[in-house]
Amino acid sequence: MIKPIIVGNWKLNGTKKKIKKFLKLLSLFVKKYNPKGTIIISLPIIYTYIIKNLSIFKKKKIFSGAQNVDNHVLGSFTGEISPNMLNDMMIKYVIIGHSERRFNHKETNHIVANKFRLLKQENLIPILCIGETKQEKVDNRIEEVCIKQIDIILNTCGTHAFDNSIIAYEPIWAIGSQNSATPSEVQYVAQFIRQYINIKSNYKIKNFFIQYGGAVTNKNVSELISKEDIDGFLIGRSSLEITEFIKIIKLINI
Ligand code: 13P
Repeated sequence: MIKPIIVGNWKLNGTKKKIKKFLKLLSLFVKKYNPKGTIIISLPIIYTYIIKNLSIFKKKKIFSGAQNVDNHVLGSFTGEISPNMLNDMMIKYVIIGHSERRFNHKETNHIVANKFRLLKQENLIPILCIGETKQEKVDNRIEEVCIKQIDIILNTCGTHAFDNSIIAYEPIWAIGSQNSATPSEVQYVAQFIRQYINIKSNYKIKNFFIQYGGAVTNKNVSELISKEDIDGFLIGRSSLEITEFIKIIKLINI
């Protein structure tokens, strides 16, 4: 992984036609500008095959991501996809613990930690989403919430769990809103997360990155990326339109 790391999380959006057009334009852009950093596109899983056929995928200029994975390896789990299946399909980066899954699908910290463990077993790269609700922010509990979401991973997977991993700090109140957290708010939390994980791993952590997600646009991305502990972004809406997405890549790759 080379930073900045930018992940487009398409959530439940897109059609075959729209995605093919988007990827064609992204390919042209990547071939022309050869941006540094790591670009990952997390489409709805049924469409990820489209990425695999691109020459920029074969040349490792972009990567394919998943938006979720099951916390079992195989068996009677209708509708699910396992870590080894993702590996089999060359999907290397996997978002887990997104607040939309925590809320809509009742995913607990325990389930998320189990997913993290299985991804590491497959040598896949977890993108662990953590972050607080509006009320938790008002109550001054941001650090406490983050610690709880991180500790269960460390307790399940050991003190080096976050080697080769990404944490996406996504304050829940910012997701899908018009208001991102301010660059200094994000820097404060990102620095806290990095220090916490460094201490827990005895400063031996390698290839660990912190992203921010929540209302990232071409308007706020330059100032956010200028902050020391922000290594990239997990982007929802702004990843759906190629012109906006390219603008963002250009701004963070200066
Ligand atoms: P938005 O960028 O649309 O706010 O979504 C953020 C997000 O949830 C990315 O995972």
